[in-house]
Amino acid sequence: MNVAIVVFSETGKTLKLAELAREKLLADGHSVQLTRLQTDPVFDSKHNLPEDQIKFTNLPDLDSASVLIFGTPVWAFRPCAAGRKALRDLGPQLKGKSVLPFITHGFPWAWLTGTSSANALRRLAADFGAKALAGVVLSGSMKKGEERYQAAAEKIRNLLK
Ligand SMILES: Cc1cc2nc3c(=O)[nH]c(=O)nc-3n(C[C@H](O)[C@H](O)[C@H](O)COP(=O)(O)O)c2cc1C
Repeated sequence: MNVAIVVFSETGKTLKLAELAREKLLADGHSVQLTRLQTDPVFDSKHNLPEDQIKFTNLPDLDSASVLIFGTPVWAFRPCAAGRKALRDLGPQLKGKSVLPFITHGFPWAWLTGTSSANALRRLAADFGAKALAGVVLSGSMKKGEERYQAAAEKIRNLLK
């Protein structure tokens, strides 16, 4: 399959999971294009702009992709504004495609903001006529991260089998 992975990531966690998922999907024979979203003006936790002022400089063309894997962190109990805005901006390209959202967040339990944020992205994608696949959530932990990242990337891989 032609897979587009698009992420917003401020501190690199969402990007790291995207990169691991890309490795696994390439190993399975998929063609994968990964985009880390850039903004102008700057959008980050110190410049937390409202959605209507967030402009992306590198939104990808999804024409050749049949699946979009879309990742964003949780900020303040929901997908961060850049994640919501990016999925809306990509919306007109989503009709008939499968969308697999994934979330990284700080709380150590998916039920506390993780699952609800993934479901918010699923609903948004479905509103644009996409087929929303199950969401994947990587919650925070005091433990070292590698195994948790690998497990989450494996979930993403298995959802595309
Ligand atoms: C402004 C801000 C608000 C956040 N709010 C939440 C939250 O409500 N719930 C949560 O679990 N994590 C929250 N976090 C933690 C991030 O979701 C978490 O660190 C995420 O993995 C960061 O992803 P990134 O490294 O790709 O930017 C917040 C982080 C920031 C900077």
